[in-house]
Amino acid sequence: MTASSSNINNSTPYSPNMTDNKIRIGLFGFGTVGQGVYQILDKAKNSHAEIKHICVRDINKQRNIHPREGLLTDNASDIFDDPDINLIVELVDNADASYQIVTTALRRGIPVVSGSKAMIARHLPELIELQHTHHTALLYDASSCGSIPVIRNLEEYYDNDLLLEVKGILNGSSNYILSRVFDHGEDYADALHRAQTLGFAESDPSFDIEGYDALFKLIIITVHALGSYVAPEDIFTCGISNIHDADIQYAREKGAKIKLVAQVAKVSDEAFTMFVMPELVEKSKYIYSVDDEYNGVVIRGECYDRQFMFGKGAGGLPTASSILSDIMARLHHYRYEYKKMTYLDRPIYTTDIDVRVYIRYSDTDVPAALQFNKIIELHLTEQSNYLIGEIPLRRLIEHRDLFSAPDVFIANIPVFFIDRDN
Ligand code: HSE
Repeated sequence: MTASSSNINNSTPYSPNMTDNKIRIGLFGFGTVGQGVYQILDKAKNSHAEIKHICVRDINKQRNIHPREGLLTDNASDIFDDPDINLIVELVDNADASYQIVTTALRRGIPVVSGSKAMIARHLPELIELQHTHHTALLYDASSCGSIPVIRNLEEYYDNDLLLEVKGILNGSSNYILSRVFDHGEDYADALHRAQTLGFAESDPSFDIEGYDALFKLIIITVHALGSYVAPEDIFTCGISNIHDADIQYAREKGAKIKLVAQVAKVSDEAFTMFVMPELVEKSKYIYSVDDEYNGVVIRGECYDRQFMFGKGAGGLPTASSILSDIMARLHHYRYEYKKMTYLDRPIYTTDIDVRVYIRYSDTDVPAALQFNKIIELHLTEQSNYLIGEIPLRRLIEHRDLFSAPDVFIANIPVFFIDRDN
């Protein structure tokens, strides 16, 4: 991407030209989602928004969709120096380039719509600061759960302190893989390959299957749910790559499915916790029926118990529909206010809570290394062993390397942290 700092002119002052109430977009990136945005704007013949330039790294690359003559450029200055452009849409598949583009735009006061969850999750405090300092906006509903409007709902509707928990399936690719393996008996590697060809998976699919994509979304969601930012390295994250037939068999015997679940939950009036790991999901739970590339988010609060949002969480057009929603929100000058970040009684992050887990392992030192507070079940066989036990979350973080060994698989068995009004 040529939008490196070298060819972006930072000196030109910017004042958004919105006199005719029309959004004129400079689009960075023309991959799956960028092409989806182009298609949607073209199909909808939306007279309030038009793409003026599309900046790509390689202008001659073979593409399935061919933008109108003259739209493609490989020079970021065509966007940054065009005074007509009043919104930048950033959909670049490279976190460093994405950071350069977004921070340059914000510093120049140009509003941005972005879908770059990894970059946003890593830099959110700075990005919030830049929005305040330069009186501009960064919208990113598409970064979390594709077409499901999670962020704006948390920001606006759930703008109170009743929220107890946000939990769900935030990664479409891993859910697609688990569905194919669990419900259709497919091979794990085939299912992963299909998730890639269908355009759900990240260019580095380990982000999907090792839980990092869900982690980035959870971090962003937590800022809008509870007003607190927690850095990725402080959160326990474990994915599905070590899942084995024995785990699937165990889940089936219990009438459960294994899903990759991300959650943030208040554990008291003063504290909250968060983590990403596979979970044994019982039939009675909303997310049990969330299959394939779909995402499902359960919001639990005092007074209203649970609410459930369901929809396509990955794929070009579903994600592009969320980008379009953010584009149209800018027509009304919408910006996130991060109101919960200014609340005085924000809960603090803790890992000092016990979680109940299923662990399958073959190395018999695993239980000793982890020092469970309580072992509820222990099965030892010649092939492999498993146990159900209770352990402080902080200890899982301390021993996170243990879970990258291929013979170890962990799944959460959910417990209520706060059982109020339910
Ligand atoms: N790779 C992501 C997923 C794309 O599978 O959910 C949408 O963020």
